[in-house]
Amino acid sequence: MAIENFTAYNPVRLHFGEGVTGGLGKSAAKYGKKVLLVFGKGSVKKYGYYDRVVEQLKMAGLEIVEYSGIKPNPVIEDVRMATGLGQRENIEVIVALGGGSVIDSAKIIALAIASGYDGWDIIKHKVKPEKTIPLICVLTLAATGTEMNAGAVVQNHDTGEKIGFVHELNFPKESFLDPSFTVTVPKNHTTYGITDLIAHALEVYFGEGEPPVIDQITFDIIKDAMRWGPELLDNPENVELRANIMLDATLALNGLTRYGKKNGDWGVHAIGHELSLLYDMPHGASLSIVYMAWLKLHKDRISERIKKLGKNLFGADSVEGTLDAIRLFFQSINSPVTLQDEGIGEDQKEIIIRQLNKNSASGMHHALTDDDRRKIVALMYSH
Ligand code: NZQ
Ligand code: ZN
Repeated sequence: MAIENFTAYNPVRLHFGEGVTGGLGKSAAKYGKKVLLVFGKGSVKKYGYYDRVVEQLKMAGLEIVEYSGIKPNPVIEDVRMATGLGQRENIEVIVALGGGSVIDSAKIIALAIASGYDGWDIIKHKVKPEKTIPLICVLTLAATGTEMNAGAVVQNHDTGEKIGFVHELNFPKESFLDPSFTVTVPKNHTTYGITDLIAHALEVYFGEGEPPVIDQITFDIIKDAMRWGPELLDNPENVELRANIMLDATLALNGLTRYGKKNGDWGVHAIGHELSLLYDMPHGASLSIVYMAWLKLHKDRISERIKKLGKNLFGADSVEGTLDAIRLFFQSINSPVTLQDEGIGEDQKEIIIRQLNKNSASGMHHALTDDDRRKIVALMYSH
């Protein structure tokens, strides 16, 4: 069957557009009086988003406790410290103000506060949380789709893992997406966001099941990002262009493109996470490097699927033509396509292979063997 059996569920109330955070206080007040406000390393203070959010929460009469300093490629230590703070302060609702790193951390913090379990035990499925704290997101970076999905990704340097945890309790209650909150995202992270959203569309496209209408929607999301992304990089303060990319990013990973599919593949993400763990590489940067290598490894195994993609995105008529066009697009927006582009030399080859094998980095539809992983690493060093 082209369309596989599937169940769809998404309870997130999404508020999209300029000025939507005007309703933030009222929304948060529905869930409690005491808020844990979680944010990152300082961009939200520097650019005034913090002030706007705090003003809204205060106007609604809410009491605020803060946890700041979540780093990109977030770590379990921050999750644990924020959990302790939230428990001591008896917070009732969490407001996450930031990009994927802040929101993902907040999802695990919420589960850990409510359940009393350790955040890493939750991520590793050692315990089964049955409740959470209501989470409200104010997104400041278009990329991950976390604002409207049930995933959260956190690193643990003690165990050498960066892992995604997917659970229905992770769905935010509400998310506020004001594209004007993203005009200050620096060029490199704007690029990584575009790459990330395209990678999400591709990961699901290469999963099991080929529902025709969903393939078309997937192509449209990628085409939209390829159309507006480069223009946005030339006009980073253009709110309309920011809005286009923001909506693309949400649609690419809110479950829509999984209708009629058994799964996505996610092998590229699995490998990308290992690169982020080893080199603190930004998530999107890891994906354009791994995708080129993954496609080369699979070009004879899934040639028809790659050709369909190339024909619809670029009018390409061959696998090679498709791969070239994808690489040229990534290069046009300054997303790296080899490890050398990120300053990682050949001396790291064995270290990367060992890391991939240690965690058995693989896809759900296209499983990778040790030999595949060795080949992919070699391909990440060549154009
Ligand atoms: O820390 P601050 O000072 O806030 O700066 C951040 C950070 O340095 C900055 N930034 C964010 N919004 C800004 C801004 N700077 C200026 N103006 C703004 N409006 O951008 C930098 C990157 O932020 P980060 O949150 O790390 O980026 P992103 O949203 O790309 O999130 C990446 C994380 O999400 C995970 C990734 O693995 C990575 O850990 N993912 C989560 C997914 C999910 N939950 O569904 C799926 C994805 O595939 C991904 O794995
Ligand atoms: Zn991603």
